[in-house]
Amino acid sequence: MAALLLVLLISSSLVLSSAISDGLLPNGDFEKGPRPSDLKGTKVMGRLSIPNWEISGFVEYIKSGQKQGDMLLVVPEGDFAVRLGNDASIKQKLKVTKGMHYSISFGAARTCAQAEKLNISVTPDFGVLPIQTMYSSNGWDTYAWGFRADFSQVDLVLHNTGIEEDPACGPLIDSIAVKTLYPPRRTNQNVLKNGGFEEGPYIFPNTSWGVLVPPNIEDSHSPLPGWIIESLKAVKYIDSAHFSVPSGRRAVEIIAGREGAIAQIAPTIVGKTYTLSFLVGDANNACQGSMMVEAFAGKDTIKVGYKSSGKGGFKHAVLQFKATEMRTRIMFYSSYYHIRSDDTSSLCGPVIDEVKLLSIRRPMMV
Ligand SMILES: *[C@@H]1O[C@H](CO)[C@@H](O)[C@H](O)[C@H]1NC(C)=O
Ligand SMILES: *[C@@H]1O[C@H](CO)[C@@H](O)[C@H](O)[C@H]1NC(C)=O
Repeated sequence: MAALLLVLLISSSLVLSSAISDGLLPNGDFEKGPRPSDLKGTKVMGRLSIPNWEISGFVEYIKSGQKQGDMLLVVPEGDFAVRLGNDASIKQKLKVTKGMHYSISFGAARTCAQAEKLNISVTPDFGVLPIQTMYSSNGWDTYAWGFRADFSQVDLVLHNTGIEEDPACGPLIDSIAVKTLYPPRRTNQNVLKNGGFEEGPYIFPNTSWGVLVPPNIEDSHSPLPGWIIESLKAVKYIDSAHFSVPSGRRAVEIIAGREGAIAQIAPTIVGKTYTLSFLVGDANNACQGSMMVEAFAGKDTIKVGYKSSGKGGFKHAVLQFKATEMRTRIMFYSSYYHIRSDDTSSLCGPVIDEVKLLSIRRPMMV
């Protein structure tokens, strides 16, 4: 019996340890490329000629510094990236743990087409992410996308669904990483899950521009567990290694004004009084000026002003409210739009962190 248990334990730990580990996927930065004989100019010939990947359609292997018309193509990590032309895709099989949640982080840059879109999928989930240049000035952004593994081996596919006149038109892709997510729970210290944003997508140690969490429909598959992104635009997930973060190692920067709202639905007891407390600050990223965060708890709202000198700092804010529903929508957005003063083009905005929702026994009269 004991021996059988031991065998079971060993085999289950073997199963676990064979699942993919956090970080860059095998050849996720495309530094290993096709043999010269598998290239026709920049076009990759052969389905399996990029190590660890399977391609379909018009895929190009791009070297940093390569010219396209008068545009210089720059690659964020290492020397190489791929470009997905019309209807092109790249695929890698991932060994995962069935039932676990994962987040994919990948770098993408728009090239010639105006409205480039990527369909990222792990069957049966998919997300169609618009690739825009509006978020950061160097053209590259890192995007996050979450999925739940229904099988122990899954296909990750990035597919350019676009059909342009020039078949080579399409987004550049580089640096694809994965992170296992441990769904956070509510505690007796906080009715909200992941209120400090410590659990979230992989951030590349060498990238200083954070990760965009795009608008998400299902919160059960959010790359930022517990949270959903409402409205049309992304929010930015930032780390303390590259930004000023009010508490812990991670926070969220609201970069698209009222168009990038972050929300969570909290279970509440009708008639009970709650306090919603949070921190508002700036990321130390040259995002200056008068900022305003609007926080909502159901129909109650508070506007929190914050004067940013762009050098980091934060303040504390509290909204006290009486719950009128069994489910209360907690939501934050920025009243204003901001751009960084150092490049005058990247979107930026106030940072929120340490969001706590607690019921209180003896409410203060306000
Ligand atoms: C995205 O890709 C998945 C998997 O290939 C597919 O099922 C889905 O229909 C695609 N969605 C769109 C909008 O292209
Ligand atoms: C990150 O930067 C360090 C130092 O420049 C370098 O040695 C390392 O290879 C880089 N890592 C990645 C994933 O590019």
